[in-house]
Amino acid sequence: MRSPDTTSWHSATWQTKVAQQQPTYADPKALEGAVAHLSRLPPIVVSWEIDALRERLAAAQRGQAFLLQGGDCAETFADCESDTIAKKLKILLQMSLVLLHGLKKPIIRVGRMAGQYAKPRSVDTETRNGVTLPSYRGDLVNRPEFTAEARAADPELLLRGYERAALTLNFVRALVDGGFADLHHPEYWDLGFMKHAQLKDAYQHIVNSIGDALDFFEGISGRGVAEGTLADFYASHEGLHLLYEQAQTRFIPRQNRWYNLSTHMPWIGMRTAQLDGAHVEYMRGISNPIGVKVGTAMDSTWLQGLVTTLNPQNQPGRLTLIHRFGAKDIEASLPRAIEAVRQTGQAVLWICDPMHGNTETAAGGLKTRRFENILKELDLAFRIHADMGSYLGGVHIELTGEDVTECTGGARGLTDADLQRAYRSSVDPRLNHEQALELAMLIAERSQTRRADKRASTAP
Ligand code: PEP
Ligand code: CO
Repeated sequence: MRSPDTTSWHSATWQTKVAQQQPTYADPKALEGAVAHLSRLPPIVVSWEIDALRERLAAAQRGQAFLLQGGDCAETFADCESDTIAKKLKILLQMSLVLLHGLKKPIIRVGRMAGQYAKPRSVDTETRNGVTLPSYRGDLVNRPEFTAEARAADPELLLRGYERAALTLNFVRALVDGGFADLHHPEYWDLGFMKHAQLKDAYQHIVNSIGDALDFFEGISGRGVAEGTLADFYASHEGLHLLYEQAQTRFIPRQNRWYNLSTHMPWIGMRTAQLDGAHVEYMRGISNPIGVKVGTAMDSTWLQGLVTTLNPQNQPGRLTLIHRFGAKDIEASLPRAIEAVRQTGQAVLWICDPMHGNTETAAGGLKTRRFENILKELDLAFRIHADMGSYLGGVHIELTGEDVTECTGGARGLTDADLQRAYRSSVDPRLNHEQALELAMLIAERSQTRRADKRASTAP
């Protein structure tokens, strides 16, 4: 096994490697100026929060907690508004409540928020009516309108992105600190437009039962359930734009380690996980817990290489593998991946992204995902991990607190024809509020059934 050299690592060593998915800037001086400016600005998160998250993820890795990671495919600058942010936080909190109730484990809440502004693209350019322009790569890089000016990569957007990430997290922190995330007050999270009667009743039932459980516990123990364990919320984004990540990467002398202080938990996307590539080089040197997307194209040797390069010390909570095989491929791919990681002797946290392997084009040409496929992949993921004596310790979901129509299916039975009504994503289709809550309920329900089955089968 390769023994990784961390002694010569610093936040820019990735520049000696091939970096996929980086924009081309016309003015290198302007880019240098923006990155230098970004390097002087204060961090968005701090090292002790990052360490705290890593410890919580270590608990999930041991089977003692469950990670809920979710948010938009891409945040946009226009959506940096109080209402949109609060709604996204609310749906994540509602889902975490439902999961807590069903899984009977602490839920670690991590938003794809406050920095999810850069997107990998399958092609570098887009052609319309004979005109070819650079692809839209997220608001951190350029703008979606199809004009040469909008599609030119603009270094100033790095600063605008940093500012909006800070504004977003500032608001989330204020809400969380003010008791917004407290399980004692789920009434704060009412989204108003949840109209599906059965879903609403089922959710209310869970809220009441958690309220009763808290009253019961606090009644017999004579003390409140500690706020700290109830109220934390962390941020994550794809660590794609390496100059942005580098600029916020700092050496903390007290810890004697490097941290990416732009987010708590960056992850490496599928398209940038090359073992000898710049993203792996960058991520191996930071102390944050990190995620890696795992798809069907990743063979066992590649996966093993990632595990040993990114976590040579086998540090608990350091590495989360986010598998995203798709409902049709998970049965062939997941057992092989679990076995490959097992052979390294390293412990990882496995979570399932049931979104990215299930993207398809609907009849009208819009990108969509079917709720039934998302649920099917999750069901299979839970089953395969359990059958192999492994643990599925979380989910990674693309969702929004808004009432959009981007994924089909769910309790309301959205069809391809409904997609036109409120399709707002400029990238991947997200579950809307009702679909996201329903998914959490189904995960919770099925986990309760599995527990009951297990009890029945082990009863004397
Ligand atoms: C994403 O999470 O939006 C994404 C691009 O995923 P992946 O890297 O798994 O394709
Ligand atoms: Co996406």
